[in-house]
Amino acid sequence: MSTTYRIAPSILSADFASLGQEVRDVIAAGADWIHFDVMDNHYVPNLTFGPMVCEALRKHAVQADGSRVPIDVHLMVQPVDALAQAFAKAGADLISFHPDASAHVDRSLQVIQAAGCKAGLVFNPAMPIEVLDWVIDKVDLVLVMSVNPGFGGQSFIPGALRKIERLRKLIDGTGRDIRLEVDGGIKTDNIRRVADAGADTFVAGSAIFGQKDYRGVIDAMRAELAR
Ligand code: DX5
Ligand code: ZN
Repeated sequence: MSTTYRIAPSILSADFASLGQEVRDVIAAGADWIHFDVMDNHYVPNLTFGPMVCEALRKHAVQADGSRVPIDVHLMVQPVDALAQAFAKAGADLISFHPDASAHVDRSLQVIQAAGCKAGLVFNPAMPIEVLDWVIDKVDLVLVMSVNPGFGGQSFIPGALRKIERLRKLIDGTGRDIRLEVDGGIKTDNIRRVADAGADTFVAGSAIFGQKDYRGVIDAMRAELAR
């Protein structure tokens, strides 16, 4: 069965003074999703943007034909529920959170789905995945951190590959359409290896926004995925 791969540039590494234009440019360069890294300087030692910025970017996250490009919100915040609802209102399409940031993971997943968004769980490098055994029926996306959260431009942690392989087996066993996304240190020279481990969706921040030619990088990543 052929896999539909998705590339989700993280605007964490974009020019914050021109975010609307950056979103339009990276979509024109072939991006499938826009990855929106939300940091609260509490759950992670960094601070980025909130629902108002998501609302402002919603009108820019469109294809040339006006069709909606999904905004993939990655909440690195604690607590989760109220901000998740605010992002749903602000136009997010997918909202994922770290289970260790929520006192009631099952309820937080229900809050996201009740708000009309797809719900995801995010696993840090040292975080076990067993919580999925009890909530996999409420999960549309699993996000594997291949760096420790908080900053772009870090190196890929190879241990993530074993977790991806284990998650691929778990997800295939459910028969449900659950995306397996990887976030952190994804480059043209390692994306194939990460896909071979079982990932189908790839967050890339510095690899894309660190270059002038966004299309060149995204095309090179797709060529690796097509190999
Ligand atoms: C970490 C962030 C980063 C970012 C991707 O909290 O989630 O992983 O999206 O950064 P790069 O692609 O530059 O490693
Ligand atoms: Zn992220």
